[in-house]
Amino acid sequence: MQADFILHNCANVIAIYPGSFDPITLGHLDIIERGCRLFEQVIVAVLRNPNKTPLFTVQERIAQIRQATMHLSNVEVDGFHGLTVNYAQMRQAQVLIRGLRALSDFEVELQMAHTNKTLSNQIETVFLATSNEYSFLSSSQVKEIARFGGSIDHLVPPHVAIEIYRCHAKKPT
Ligand code: PNS
Repeated sequence: MQADFILHNCANVIAIYPGSFDPITLGHLDIIERGCRLFEQVIVAVLRNPNKTPLFTVQERIAQIRQATMHLSNVEVDGFHGLTVNYAQMRQAQVLIRGLRALSDFEVELQMAHTNKTLSNQIETVFLATSNEYSFLSSSQVKEIARFGGSIDHLVPPHVAIEIYRCHAKKPT
């Protein structure tokens, strides 16, 4: 009954899942898959952030996410810059999805949700608890493990793992 109520009310809702996704992990993919079951459409939005030096360009990340979400019919992948709520309004989205791992995420994510609420009262942040098996996983950890020669096959989609290994084969550690 509760689930029916939620699904009924979210049936026409467009949700944005914003982030850096440098690179997309299996934890991100889990959140996208679950978001797709809750909302009409999920737009995975990759931030163009001039203040960071990423491993992959925004275009590369978009291509990686598109390949990883090919099995999902209601996903779109896009890049954006500026404020997330402005992008959400431009896309007529009503919800921002964020994944919550440990308590340490909570403070940062709550602050971000509150800040976004002050910027737009129309956009709600919905937190999805990460599945247990991915509760430790972050893009930074994936990059660090790969940099020091460890295996990341269990942490990211196979095509992403190949691209990360290729990056590190080219660069000195
Ligand atoms: O994957 P990340 O790096 O944790 O994602 C953070 C992101 C991109 C969601 C956040 O930094 C963001 O929304 N940046 C856009 C600028 C913005 O809207 N700032 C106001 C909210 S704090």
